Amino acid sequence: MDNLVLCHPRVSSGQDPNQTIIVQCEVSQTIPSDHVLLKVDRFGFSANNVTYQALGEASHFRYFDFHHAPEAEGVSSKTHGVTPVWGFGTIIKSTHPKVHTGERVYGYFAPARYLVLPVSQDVNKYAFFVPRSHLPPDRRPYNQVTRCATDPLYDPSPTAEDLTMLYRPLFWTSFWCEDWLNSTDYKGGSTQILMSSASSKTAFCLAYLIRRRNSLQGSSRRVIGLTSMKNLAFTKRLGLYDDVFDYESFDTSLVGNLARGRWIYVDVAGNDGLNARVRDHFRVPGESELVTRIALGFTNVSPSTINPGLFASWDTGSEAPQGADPILEHFFMPEWLSVRKQQLSVSAITQMQKEAWTRLMSDCQTWGVSLRRVCGPSQVKAAYEEIVRRGLAPEDAFVWSLWGETAEIGSRAKL
Ligand SMILES: NC(=O)c1ccc[n+]([C@@H]2O[C@H](COP(=O)([O-])OP(=O)(O)OC[C@H]3O[C@@H](n4cnc5c(N)ncnc54)[C@H](OP(=O)(O)O)[C@@H]3O)[C@@H](O)[C@H]2O)c1
Repeated sequence: MDNLVLCHPRVSSGQDPNQTIIVQCEVSQTIPSDHVLLKVDRFGFSANNVTYQALGEASHFRYFDFHHAPEAEGVSSKTHGVTPVWGFGTIIKSTHPKVHTGERVYGYFAPARYLVLPVSQDVNKYAFFVPRSHLPPDRRPYNQVTRCATDPLYDPSPTAEDLTMLYRPLFWTSFWCEDWLNSTDYKGGSTQILMSSASSKTAFCLAYLIRRRNSLQGSSRRVIGLTSMKNLAFTKRLGLYDDVFDYESFDTSLVGNLARGRWIYVDVAGNDGLNARVRDHFRVPGESELVTRIALGFTNVSPSTINPGLFASWDTGSEAPQGADPILEHFFMPEWLSVRKQQLSVSAITQMQKEAWTRLMSDCQTWGVSLRRVCGPSQVKAAYEEIVRRGLAPEDAFVWSLWGETAEIGSRAKL
């Protein structure tokens, strides 16, 4: 059977990492025991995936170590990486006794038509796992393949599947990040939360969850978003922030808004220059204090601008290297989730997530985000190249598939 896999040159290969290629290769129908062959139907694509690609070779993250590039002319796993995507698929062959042909599954797949995955022994009613002993144990959420038939969050309608691929990986980061902040009483009672890349789904879902916590607790934490000028109107329209400022002028806008008390800065952009300006802003003596900067994302880091020094503090854990920002903390969802799994029962976590997800699926309808389906290899390649040229617009929510072809990029459906 012919397979197609979207691959990118590794930065270490010296090639341009943006020169994406779709590799054609054979997939054998004879698979080893305890494996599945699945048809990847479609997958979401957002700045999150661009970050996976940019950090593909970063030693703390190793996103290129989840799926290997095929061996083909001019392509190998030494020179190329496969950027993981969250998607839906169908099992078309299984040699594992507890996983069955025809099952609909959701997981951390390769952007391909077909994918062969090994299956570990710990299969349960809800999920099976891909054994990846070469990666740290806290990567388990990425190794989980969810069985849709028993997934309490699954809705088989195509729009619900699309929303799942787009929001699930980001929303759970926002959800568990808010849970983590709340577990510290917002870092000792902070009342102002500043966020960069405020137009990104990860950031605005966090703003949405902080508002929700405010209403549950009767508290009045304010959330202030920073975004680029071109995304200012969208971010304001969301109605999830108390204030939104653009990157160029936020320094002056904040002066009059620098409320007293403790501030948290959640950094989703990962832009050194911006972060230095935010830090300088709070250096001015006054009654406001920046208590922490939380590194949550890297929307400003692209595969071609990756700076290895940027991740030095992730590799040294909580001990910041000399000269680095002393108040910097990292939030990495799998790490916090493994802590919460020690504290809460599985059913308590399932219930929390079900309630939050049901509310999200209703509330997200008003956020002005349009679904953009892109089908077929040449269209997907062109869509990726458009992202390299122009970045990702926050109002576009991409769902891609290497199956089929559409006459033009982007059949749009308003959510
Ligand atoms: N820590 C974790 O566990 C975790 C989990 C999930 C996601 N994340 C991270 O959160 C970030 C946001 O992901 P998302 O999928 O939510 O994003 P998204 O919705 O696709 O965000 C789009 C936004 O990213 C910014 N952007 C897009 N292209 C850009 C470019 N070329 N240059 C500079 N900025 C660009 C713009 O925001 P502005 O104009 O507002 O800056 C744009 O509106 C990613 O870096 C992702 O890896 C982290």
